[in-house]
This record gives sequence, C-alpha cells and structure tokens, in this order.
Amino acid sequence: MRYALISDIHANLPALDAVLADIDGRPDVDAAYHLGDLVGYAPWPNEVVAKLREAGIPGVAGNYDSTVATDYKHCGCRYEDARQEQLSHLSYQWTRMHTFAETKAFLGGLPFRIDIRPLGGHVAGPTVTLLHGNQVLNTVYVYDDRPDSFLEKMASGVGARAGDILCFGHTHIPWHRTVGGTHFVNTGSVGRPKDGDWRAGYVLLDVSASEPHVRVELVRVDYDVELAATAILESELPNDFADYLRTGGKPAAAVNG
Ligand SMILES: [Fe+2]
Repeated sequence: MRYALISDIHANLPALDAVLADIDGRPDVDAAYHLGDLVGYAPWPNEVVAKLREAGIPGVAGNYDSTVATDYKHCGCRYEDARQEQLSHLSYQWTRMHTFAETKAFLGGLPFRIDIRPLGGHVAGPTVTLLHGNQVLNTVYVYDDRPDSFLEKMASGVGARAGDILCFGHTHIPWHRTVGGTHFVNTGSVGRPKDGDWRAGYVLLDVSASEPHVRVELVRVDYDVELAATAILESELPNDFADYLRTGGKPAAAVNG
C-alpha cells in the first residue's frame, strides 16, 4: 500500500493544489490522508477545507483546527519573543473571524488520531497511526532531535510495537527515524515549511508484506508561492507571513505554529 500524507496546509490553497496535482500524477498512490492544521496564516481557510472534503481526503485535527473550531483563547502555537506572540495572535484572530461556521463545525469533527492497517486487520501486521503533535496533545512538537527515550515513550503511549509506523506533523520540518523498530515519520508541511525550502512538502509512505516493509519518501513540490504571498499582502494578515513562505520559514522576523 502506498499512502500520500499531507500535513500543515495552513490555508495555503496554491500549495495544496500543487500537492494534490502531484499526487494525482502518481497512479500508484492508494490513499491520501491529512495530518491536520488545515487553517491559519494564509487567506484560504474555507477553500482549503472545501477542497479536502471534495477530494475525500480524511485526516486528524491539528491544534489550529481544534482551537479555531472551539473558539479557544489561543491556537496553542509556540512563540519565542513578543513579536512572534503578536503575529501568532493576529493570525489566530484573523482565522477565527474568516472561517465560516460550517467550516468550523467540520474542523471540530475531525478525529484526534487515525489507525490504519495496510495489510488488513485479519492478519498480524503493521499499524500506521496518524497524529498531529503527539498521542496526548496536538500541540506537542516532536522534532528529530528528541532523545530515543522520548520516542520510546511516545510509541508505548500509542500502543505501537516494532514494525509500526507513527506519522505526525506540527513542526513543519520533515524527518524519519527508527527507534526500537518503530518508525517515526514527520510529514513536514504543505503550506508553511520551516526548513528553509519554500516548496510544499509531503510524504509518500509504502508499507509492504515483503522487504523493505516500510519506505518513506520526503517529497517537495514547486508551487506558485508568489500567488500565496500576494494574497497575504492583500489581506489583513501580517505581511511578515508572505516572506515567511518565500523563504521557507527563515525570514528576518519569524513566528512558529
Ligand atoms: Fe502547523
């Protein structure tokens, strides 16, 4: 089975369009899932949600989705200084104001996690678990420098065994590690990468009964970043977010999310 895993689209419709076209061009992809954070930071929250619903792509709730859906007091995003805090607040307020009630209801209905059995539940075989942050909260950042002990604890919290695959997003930086036989896959971000590469990112995950049982490909796709940047500049969202997209998360003033 070959899966396309897309995460952290963050209301960036041109990036999502490019990724969906790339997936469509791969007839060997059996199914696509999203890993949350559909909204925030760019001006197409309703359009992104509508596009995923139209494409029939299921997925889990990111912190941005669940906080916008419940009108929580903040988006659960991390910030490192007063400027980042201000930008985070502006983005969150803009998104809450511009996300339709129907879109919020859909976001509120997203599951916290999804378990997939690529080889079927009738045989022992790997489980793929989709999360946004970790198994407890969708606001926890799981970076690739987390110690083995942290990832082992995550695996046992999920109920994962050797050969299982845990997939998540939230940090906007893609990576793949294996600890204790369990695969940890961060799918990166479609609409707001933070690794210095502005291109939209997603993951192709192959799970097979034969060797190699698990294969992970970190994919990057060109998209019309200027279209997204211009739309941000023309909206009431902070102009800083345009440069953030153009630089893959390395502008002079940054904000986490
Ligand atoms: Fe995110």
